[in-house]
Amino acid sequence: MFPTKAKTLHRLLRFRHTVWCSPFGKASSSRLVLGIETSCDETGAAVLDETGEILGESLHSQKDVHLRTGGIIPTVAQQLHRENIERVVQEALERSNVDVSQLSAVATTVKPGLALSLGIGLEFSQRFVRRHSKPFIPIHHMEAHALTVRMLQPVSFPFLVLLVSGGHSLLAVARGVDDFLLLGHSLDEAPGDTLDKVARRLSLIKHPRCSMLSGGQAIELLAKDGDWKKFRFRTPMGQSYDCCFSFSGLRNQVTMAIMKKEAEEGIEQGTLLSCVNDIAAATQHTVARHLAKRTHRAILFCKANGLLPSSSPTLVLSGGVASNQYIRKALTIITDMTGLHLLCPPAKFCTDNGVMIAWNGVERLREGKGILSPNVDVYYEPKAPLGVDMTAEVKAAAIKLPSVRMKILN
Ligand code: KG4
Ligand code: ZN
Repeated sequence: MFPTKAKTLHRLLRFRHTVWCSPFGKASSSRLVLGIETSCDETGAAVLDETGEILGESLHSQKDVHLRTGGIIPTVAQQLHRENIERVVQEALERSNVDVSQLSAVATTVKPGLALSLGIGLEFSQRFVRRHSKPFIPIHHMEAHALTVRMLQPVSFPFLVLLVSGGHSLLAVARGVDDFLLLGHSLDEAPGDTLDKVARRLSLIKHPRCSMLSGGQAIELLAKDGDWKKFRFRTPMGQSYDCCFSFSGLRNQVTMAIMKKEAEEGIEQGTLLSCVNDIAAATQHTVARHLAKRTHRAILFCKANGLLPSSSPTLVLSGGVASNQYIRKALTIITDMTGLHLLCPPAKFCTDNGVMIAWNGVERLREGKGILSPNVDVYYEPKAPLGVDMTAEVKAAAIKLPSVRMKILN
């Protein structure tokens, strides 16, 4: 059979599968959603059905380009999204063997993120939904990260979620598809951003084992051969009894230690230090401790206020930094101690992609929440908090943590 014929047949079969007659004689359907993501440095698209089955996806990552330029340049990111979005969406549709006419809705990230990047996805999507007369579902990027786990396994609301990546760090209680309580967020930068900046300051791109890795991956790899006790960095915000994060002070401590070592070894910035493994280990250990402590307090706050179910309460860990095994172990110590169940989606679903956006679209479609007609004008929002801000209540509760022995095995 010619490939085009095979494709046509597959499409027809798919169509039969998506529109069927229920035993009650009423036409029923498994609705399909196209998801589009362009909030940062990944151009992603995917088609999902209502059960969460991924029918087709495509992802173009700009990470290599940004690694070479030493960070994301928004105009470069925008140009790369512009060059790739059409192809990525086309590929996702082709791989799914779904015709545009079969889609029930298009879901696209519209907040938060880089303005220039968000703009490309939104502009493309609005043209697309108008041309094909499809409902449009604007998506909050963090909501999508938080809900992805439900595509993979049955996790019911409410659950606690820790999102940590290059652009975000927050702790929230997910109570429903569009119902979140924000317990903590970063007051300055995100942990992945800190790890990326430390890696850059250490010139890890020149390290033979790290040249192709993101900052966080490079730090995790080198830390395996390092001793964190060689550099005792202070865990941030020890005197703030809330669940917010801060990483810029830690970065400052690390930079000072690097400068001291450079002076001692008589080398210039840009040359690899002999103690990179130890610095990587100490940085990673301090980030892990900080995340663990704030999460511990969030769990105690939730317990004190009945915000989580008494039977098998869950902590979901997601975002690019969540793939760090050392950080996972630190959080496991906390969840074991407090009786929570820790869930981490596989790395592929922790990072940015079109699948999580399509899934968020499915969740909203099922509940009939935030579905717009194609002609409604939608604007992107580079900054957009998630849910109801509870950070003042958390701070007022001033929960003191019991001491925990953080013996994290590498
Ligand atoms: O979710 P993501 O792909 O993109 C956003 O930032 O939204 O996360 C990328 C971030 C980068 O900062 C990267 O250094 C960090 O996640 N990262 C890691 C690891 N893998 C990626 N950080 C720590 N350990 C890792 N294994
Ligand atoms: Zn993200």
